Amino acid sequence: MAKHKLGILVGSSRRESINRKLAQALAKLGGDAFEAKFIQIDDLPLHNQDLEQPVPEKVARFKSEVEASDALLFVTPEHLRSIPALLKNAIDWGARPYGKNSWLGKPAAITGTSPGAIGTAIAQQHLRAVLGSGIGMHVMGGEAYIAFKPDLINAQGSVTDESVRKFLKIFIDQFAAFAARFTTQKG
Ligand code: FNR
Repeated sequence: MAKHKLGILVGSSRRESINRKLAQALAKLGGDAFEAKFIQIDDLPLHNQDLEQPVPEKVARFKSEVEASDALLFVTPEHLRSIPALLKNAIDWGARPYGKNSWLGKPAAITGTSPGAIGTAIAQQHLRAVLGSGIGMHVMGGEAYIAFKPDLINAQGSVTDESVRKFLKIFIDQFAAFAARFTTQKG
């Protein structure tokens, strides 16, 4: 069977982003079920309704990449106990203009990491509300808050802590099964 097309959005554009590392590890762990593509969001202009008709070229590219994805994985840090502005801006563009919501009806999963013990828990709750009731995605249940430790993910993108690796493998496998419920069978 053909793999599901997975669009990955990382809520940080920091060069050494720990969330990007986590996203890369998840793409690797889910490689049997998903063909992963990282969707760029740090080149999008700050959303302004005046720019919606027609949307800028980079926004059109972003929206078509979202629309081409069978499923979307959001991997995000927490900024001031909420969604980073970078990611919220991309979500806003994806939902606009009115009647052209690129997210509608797509399956989504949320995770994220921070050095803090409960890091990203509150950001993930806020994100769940936006994706679910805000823009009509089907968000997988469950929680995946990863407390980041140096060297948790090595240079090859592998998770070095076995219990975290197993947890993430279950998470991505569950997402593949969840996504399959919304995706027309191919191949
Ligand atoms: C943070 N950080 C942070 N961490 C956290 O656990 N809860 C929070 O509310 C915040 N708030 C916050 C606000 C802002 C503006 C910044 C820049 C940072 C710290 C954050 O977890 C840390 O910088 C991570 O390394 C961010 O992830 P990336 O960018 O490495 O993926």
